[in-house]
Amino acid sequence: MTQADLVVVANRLPVDRVVDASGEPSWRRSPGGLVTALEPVMRRADGAWVGWPGQPDIDVEPFEFEGAHLVPVRLSADEVEKYYEGMSNDTFWPLYHDVIAEPRYRRVWWDAYVRVNERFAAAAAEVAADGAEVWVQDYQLQLVPRMLRELRPDLTIGYFHHIPFPAYGLYSQLPWRRQVLEGLLGADVIGFQRVADAGNFARAVRRVLRYATKATGITVPQEDGSTRNALAKAFPISIDAASYIELARRPDIQARAAEIREGLGNPKKILLGVDRLDYTKGIRHRLKAFGELLHDGRVSVEDVTLLQVASPSRERVEAYMQLRDEIELTVGRINGDFDTTGHTAIRYLHQAYPREEMVALFLAADVMLVTALRDGMNLVAKEYVAARVDNRGVLVLSEFAGAADELPSAVRINPHDIDGMKDAIMRAIEMPAAEQGRRMRALRKRVMDYDVARWSRSFLEALDEAKAARRSTS
Ligand code: G6P
Repeated sequence: MTQADLVVVANRLPVDRVVDASGEPSWRRSPGGLVTALEPVMRRADGAWVGWPGQPDIDVEPFEFEGAHLVPVRLSADEVEKYYEGMSNDTFWPLYHDVIAEPRYRRVWWDAYVRVNERFAAAAAEVAADGAEVWVQDYQLQLVPRMLRELRPDLTIGYFHHIPFPAYGLYSQLPWRRQVLEGLLGADVIGFQRVADAGNFARAVRRVLRYATKATGITVPQEDGSTRNALAKAFPISIDAASYIELARRPDIQARAAEIREGLGNPKKILLGVDRLDYTKGIRHRLKAFGELLHDGRVSVEDVTLLQVASPSRERVEAYMQLRDEIELTVGRINGDFDTTGHTAIRYLHQAYPREEMVALFLAADVMLVTALRDGMNLVAKEYVAARVDNRGVLVLSEFAGAADELPSAVRINPHDIDGMKDAIMRAIEMPAAEQGRRMRALRKRVMDYDVARWSRSFLEALDEAKAARRSTS
């Protein structure tokens, strides 16, 4: 049986299950950024990845895939509904994104969340070699660190939180606020996107658990009366910048970008939005601002088009269904009011695209609109910047996206301030080439210097240090 030195535990496996015409299932690497980030690490370290195959009631034995050992965790349809759609995406997701949608607190969802977290912890405990490092990912698995530590005290455990951690005034709503903090504190290193997230977490720990917190770590009391140290710190995630640059330099992708512009009637300016269809992304606010600019006559459909890609997401959760209806109604209204027979105001695409097409879209767009109301990081902002090998284009970036901490050369907006957002969009549309170049070069430098390899390296170094410290005290 495989015994891995590094185990990644995530809600999803890094592969998607595809079934061909003859009904034969196979696995295809999923496009996500985390997969790209961890692939080299997994190869080097005899790695295993524990995760859900993404569909209910799939029974598969562990298998090898592109140099990694994959351990599927089975979820029943009922568990998908309660643990994934319910507790993860109808409770934690809205609560941690500043209650943009109302979180629902349902005890049966919590019970399923505990049960499923136990299953992930047991699978990780089984595959981890003696003294291995385990890296747990994201809000779906907040109880795993503690559960795993109880099963396997020999392991060094890391946890990374990909989404925001809210201010205490909001976090304190959670009926299970104590259990979640205790769950996370089972880790030796707890990583967050922003310094503010780590600060919110430390404050919640002080208020709920009354543990002492310092810059060097949180003092966690043990059952035997001793204490251990847990480090809570920001490790902002990034992208595989080199692969975006490589794609952006490809002549076929540049030709595709020209084709996209042509398909839109070669407007003077193309504005682009690329999001999962999620209420955290501020798509409605963006549409409102653009609709008003058309109404005020500050832009015209002959000159400016908004291209909005909204990829389908969590489609069985009520808040997402409602949002889709609202967005599609608004897009239809704006287009109805302003389209001409030759030009459209908004080209709306409810689809997901491969990376090649995304890079062509980035190259075709004069202005990238990231108007999130709250976002852990927002990797699209970084992808746009990496793809602009021509040092042109303007990034309009919400101050409520984690990326804003790292990208001060973007045009910064508060998406709740519609007038401010309208002015910022106009400024981006009218920005002289020299200023675009100056800003884009600064943005690109940051994204290229702090790429995803650097992110995973710095987290794993912190984990190595925690491991060394544990050895020296035991
Ligand atoms: C966010 C979360 C991830 C999640 C992704 C897609 O980025 O931080 O954990 O995987 O959204 O959402 P989904 O529910 O489809 O996995």
